[in-house]
Amino acid sequence: MAEKKAYTQAFRTGKYDKVSGLLGKYDNVRKYWEDQVTGIYLRPFLNNLVEKKRNRLERLRILDLGCGSGDGYDLIMGVTRKDPGIYEYVTATITDDMLKEYVGMDINADLLRQAQEYYASNPKMKFVEGDLSHGLPPEILEGQPPFDFYFASFGTLSHFHDDQCVRIIADICRHAPEYALFMGDWLGRYSYEWQDLWHHPVNQEYFIDYRISYLSPEGEEKGTGLASFPLRLITKDELMKIIEQASQEAGVETAPLTFCDRSIFVGRHLDTGDYNKNCPRLRLPVNSLFESHQRTDLESLLVDYVPRRGFDHLNNFFELFFMSCNALVKYTISLLSEYDSEEGKLRSAPEVLPFYPDPLKEAMHNMQRVIEGVGWLEWGDVRANVIEPHLAYSLRRLEIALQPGTGMGHGLVGIFEIKK
Ligand SMILES: C[S@@+](CC[C@H](N)C(=O)[O-])C[C@H]1O[C@@H](n2cnc3c(N)ncnc32)[C@H](O)[C@@H]1O
Repeated sequence: MAEKKAYTQAFRTGKYDKVSGLLGKYDNVRKYWEDQVTGIYLRPFLNNLVEKKRNRLERLRILDLGCGSGDGYDLIMGVTRKDPGIYEYVTATITDDMLKEYVGMDINADLLRQAQEYYASNPKMKFVEGDLSHGLPPEILEGQPPFDFYFASFGTLSHFHDDQCVRIIADICRHAPEYALFMGDWLGRYSYEWQDLWHHPVNQEYFIDYRISYLSPEGEEKGTGLASFPLRLITKDELMKIIEQASQEAGVETAPLTFCDRSIFVGRHLDTGDYNKNCPRLRLPVNSLFESHQRTDLESLLVDYVPRRGFDHLNNFFELFFMSCNALVKYTISLLSEYDSEEGKLRSAPEVLPFYPDPLKEAMHNMQRVIEGVGWLEWGDVRANVIEPHLAYSLRRLEIALQPGTGMGHGLVGIFEIKK
């Protein structure tokens, strides 16, 4: 039967599957929070790099270390120009005509096969199998011309001991042209997700026994049969030592451009509670905020932070951070309850107190403007489709504004320039 064949063909493409942003590796938080935040931090430096290349009539070559399924390509190509207004259609920093080549490198042949399948139609993308354990592998060092951007994302560098990272980065310094960017990404030492592990001394490398348990469906016995592997938890100071040593070994100048604690509010292991049983289960409700046509119980975003005795400096940071997030969520709940749908107006708005941190004040004012601006719209579900995503972006903005870039989130990202 022709119908049966047609539906079977559609099913086999894998594109007939129900796609949800609520769970899985590519959940809404990964796409709209984590990838975007990384891009926001990269933006000024990538803009500058593209400008330099354009002025020399050259195009960019990018190396993605530990590329997995090649997700770094979409992240990098999704970075936007400085201040795109709402009129522009093309907002990318690296437009297709400015990319010469993207090379993805990983040790895992299954992931590389998946990457090759996804990006088979893109002639500028190439995937290479290689092992980073002893520095850049010969497939790159000897097999590839220099790159303008050396990129390792989402905890890839936590797979290695510090001396291995030194070798990788020293090799990058040697391999790079006269100017290049390097972005490294480790797991942060002091994420609330792994509060049980905070006590490990910082004068020793510390590796967490990591499980990808967040992919296990609800109800399945947690962790059963899941392989675990060691991942390095790191602080900014430890990271700087690695960079300085690599720079010295290679005899090449490097300079830190910025650091970022990514996913303080939404780390993957908040929902598993594997390393802190007091963790708030925030990832699912934040995924729900981003999801169209789905309303979220906003109360489920409130965090009852449990301090750990003996870690005052960390407790102080998390108290202020989570109390600010809670204040914004509560403010939003109050505004929604005070919105008169018949009149299309707010009856009243709670006070924004003068001593709140500025980013919180700004987020509250903006939330009020958004609710007043769209609350009266009748088409679609304006709460689920506009107000809730805006709350997610506001929490994301608050995280960006309050993070110290020292190792307080799931990820610690450092961006560096290499100059010869
Ligand atoms: C946390 S994943 C990040 C994957 C991807 N960059 C992303 O954005 O999701 C870490 C990646 O590092 C790779 N990796 C681990 N050890 C490696 C090694 N010795 N050499 C090269 N890649 C390695 C893994 O196979 C995995 O794809």
